Amino acid sequence: MHLTRLLIRDFRNLAAVDLTPHARFNVLAGDNGQGKTNLLEALYWLATLRPLRAARLRELVRWGADGTSVSARVRADGLEHRLEVRVSDGDRAALREGKSARAAEYFGALAVVVFTPEDVGLVGASPQARRGFLDRAVFNTRPVHLGDVNDYRRALDSRNTLLRQGASAAVVEAYETTLAGAGGRVMRSRASYVERFAPVFASAFRGIVGDDIEAEVRYRPSVEDPSTLATLWASDRERDRQRGFTQQGPHADDLELKLLGRSARAYASQGQRRALVLALKIAEIRVLTETAGLTPVLLLDDVSSELDAVRNERLFEFLHGFPGQVFITTTDAAWLRLERDVRTFSVAAGQVIPAAGSD
Ligand SMILES: Nc1ncnc2c1ncn2[C@@H]1O[C@H](COP(=O)(O)OP(=O)(O)O)[C@@H](O)[C@H]1O
Ligand SMILES: [Mg+2]
Repeated sequence: MHLTRLLIRDFRNLAAVDLTPHARFNVLAGDNGQGKTNLLEALYWLATLRPLRAARLRELVRWGADGTSVSARVRADGLEHRLEVRVSDGDRAALREGKSARAAEYFGALAVVVFTPEDVGLVGASPQARRGFLDRAVFNTRPVHLGDVNDYRRALDSRNTLLRQGASAAVVEAYETTLAGAGGRVMRSRASYVERFAPVFASAFRGIVGDDIEAEVRYRPSVEDPSTLATLWASDRERDRQRGFTQQGPHADDLELKLLGRSARAYASQGQRRALVLALKIAEIRVLTETAGLTPVLLLDDVSSELDAVRNERLFEFLHGFPGQVFITTTDAAWLRLERDVRTFSVAAGQVIPAAGSD
């Protein structure tokens, strides 16, 4: 799948963007603070209906504007799809083929995999950041996962609020049933994804560093068996009430990374951490292309400057073999190892225009 046209109105500092991207590599070049990441964020929002960085939708709307919209034509399997997402009067609407669509109808035409400088710190980051990575990866193979994660989050907030308000055990228990349903689905999807992902990750890592260091990824659920969630919360209820929050459950899961059998978080060197993250991303893309038969659009935000020269070479080797569309931002095109099939756009003060001499 790839975008053949991208239109952006009043998204952050991008007042009006109209791009005809290349089916392969699109470079967004410009100084800091010009709108490069904003453009990737617009694409990410279009694909996932979730903001990449913003906490609130209103942050996405250009200052002084009363709404924003991002739309694209996407070619996938010989068909052309039209996607649009917009905010007007503070409400979000998603449209597919020009018609208002619920999430289940909307997803499927466009999948993106994003790689940002924040991802480079994933190995040493909080479990929450690794869960975020895992859930985004699961979502691409199974869009309903997003609904399960949201349902779980909402029911969890309700349980925590009820516990703090001193609600009766019977009332809290009613929420635990909903929570256990959504939580069980979240856990099962994460587990089955990691089962497919783990061998692909191990081989991607070998491809980056060679055969002598073995890396391993494992799903570490906070609760071993999803079918025991409801009973566990029932027995934790009074302790959770004293704590003021729900201690155990899929919101406390982690994705564990190991090098030669030892915790990467505790022991891996900086270079090894970068290689691990690169392997995570490459494996995420391979799982999609090889096992789900779907070639996502890659969004790479200034990652070359975060990787060292060797890891950067590996990244470009991978990208050359990747058959799909790539959007890559950079402040310094000297990092990029691209000769063919490239269209370069310059990004300055929210204006995005094809660079002179570009394809
Ligand atoms: N809602 C908004 N309206 C207008 N400008 C915004 C909005 N949100 C962020 N910006 C501006 O966008 C710029 C940052 O753009 P960004 O894409 O992160 O830059 P970079 O090119 O370094 O990736 C900043 O100048 C910031 O002030
Ligand atoms: Mg940026």
